[in-house]
Amino acid sequence: APITVKKICCIGAGYVGGPTCAVIALKCPNIIVTIVDLNQARIDAWNSDNLPIYEPGLDEVVKARRGKNLFFSTDVDKAIAEADLIFVSVNTPTKKSGIGAGFAADLNYLQLATRRIAEVSTSSKIVVEKSTVPCRTAESMRTILEANSKPGCHFQILSNPEFLAEGTAIQDLFAPDRVLIGSLQTDEGLDACKALMSVYSNWVPTERILTVGLWSSELSKLAANAMLAQRISSVNALSAICEATGANIDEVAFAVGKDSRMGSKFLKASVGFGGSCFQKDILNLVYLSESLHLPEVAKYWRAVVEMNEYQKDRFAHKVVETLFNTITGKKIAILGWAFKKDTGDTRESPSISIANHFLSEKARVTLYDPQVTESQIWLDLTNYGEVPAEPIKPHVTICESAEEACKGAEAIVVCTEWDEFKTLDWEKIYKNCPRPAFVFDGRLMLDRKALQKIGFSVVTIGSGD
Ligand code: NAD
Ligand code: UGA
Repeated sequence: APITVKKICCIGAGYVGGPTCAVIALKCPNIIVTIVDLNQARIDAWNSDNLPIYEPGLDEVVKARRGKNLFFSTDVDKAIAEADLIFVSVNTPTKKSGIGAGFAADLNYLQLATRRIAEVSTSSKIVVEKSTVPCRTAESMRTILEANSKPGCHFQILSNPEFLAEGTAIQDLFAPDRVLIGSLQTDEGLDACKALMSVYSNWVPTERILTVGLWSSELSKLAANAMLAQRISSVNALSAICEATGANIDEVAFAVGKDSRMGSKFLKASVGFGGSCFQKDILNLVYLSESLHLPEVAKYWRAVVEMNEYQKDRFAHKVVETLFNTITGKKIAILGWAFKKDTGDTRESPSISIANHFLSEKARVTLYDPQVTESQIWLDLTNYGEVPAEPIKPHVTICESAEEACKGAEAIVVCTEWDEFKTLDWEKIYKNCPRPAFVFDGRLMLDRKALQKIGFSVVTIGSGD
């Protein structure tokens, strides 16, 4: 029988759960959406004027529906009990210890949430895996649900991975390239799939809603991230050849991307990719390959992460080399701390490893990012308290503006492609820098010729001249 979704609960009010379910609330005014989290501070922020994440367009969506059909709460049990459909959108970080440490996904949060669903549900539910998970996770979720459920409660599990990118999350959610739904190919599985389809079809054209088997859906998410990251590692590997030969990576990427089989997007060379997912998901795929006794496959994907580490190191080394092989005591400005523009997210940001590199060379580092808070930068620099702050404190200054960070700097290092860095008063900055004044463009975003005209020595990733 067709299932009508009237109430949705989303477990996990993070970068995915928050924006995704806020957009569902906006597009489906007849569905009541409650987003829950164990983190009280995060829920309080979602209920305030200062949302916990910075994402263009998100404020408007939340303001339009909050208190109407969109609610944020820490009452996880109540929201689960009332819902007909539950998104599980909790974090699945790389395991830090135990079997698979450093590679496998830590599924503890997911399993705790699943257990909670089984324990508090008094009616049947559709449970949707939104988090990125290893292939066949839905099976273990089903076992947990069935082993702990009350009589008469049935659970259908769907996989519905999220493909939004931070910084463009709202745009991506409004007009997704595709929505992927995986289900068991049984009557009940297909009914659940139809119920979720009917939610998305409020705004997503039906031809963009793809329905596949559960395992294909789970694997497609890891595959998509691995192949996206692979493009960046490929272009970054070529950027090293460009620097050694005098070729220019933007020109090479443009020429390559013109091939319609290849496409022009996602070919921008950089200081390396960051973000909470690419590295984690590839390592997850590496672990999966190894567990399946496919060592050559594991090695192939691991190289994508290794190339990224190499690119970050290579860039930091280049700065030191260019500054005549020592940066001890020199002031170096880092512009940008977020892992990409238009987000305040710093997870796995290349800026962190680059700053650590400079600090290990005993440089004085000044930092500026338009969205990242000072306290977040300190969490990153101390690896969330694992590294003592005291020894590095005298060497780090967090600034309120790019201009302030650049004042007196022997090198200005652009790590994030924030638009505002293009339109800084570079003449004024130059006046305040010792000579020679160096700019390192890790994002190929600045007008190199204009900076050279002012007097800067400009070093750009992927450019030999
Ligand atoms: P996040 O850390 O921002 O959010 C997860 C939230 O879940 C946290 O606020 C945490 O407190 C909460 N949580 C954990 N266990 C809970 C429980 N048992 N009950 C209630 N709340 C609980 O993570 P995120 O970036 O939103 O990522 C979530 C998932 O989505 C991950 O699997 C990730 O790989 C995937 N993903 C992320 C992105 C992205 O751009 N960040 C994109 C696509 C997919
Ligand atoms: C990425 C994917 O693009 C999303 O589809 C996916 O849903 C998400 O991961 C996820 O699963 O978490 P995100 O990490 O938010 O999204 O941002 P991207 O735009 O993919 O950028 C990732 C990193 O790659 C950034 O550091 C970015 O600067 C870098 N990048 C991106 C490049 O260096 N070059 C490029 O051409 C593109």
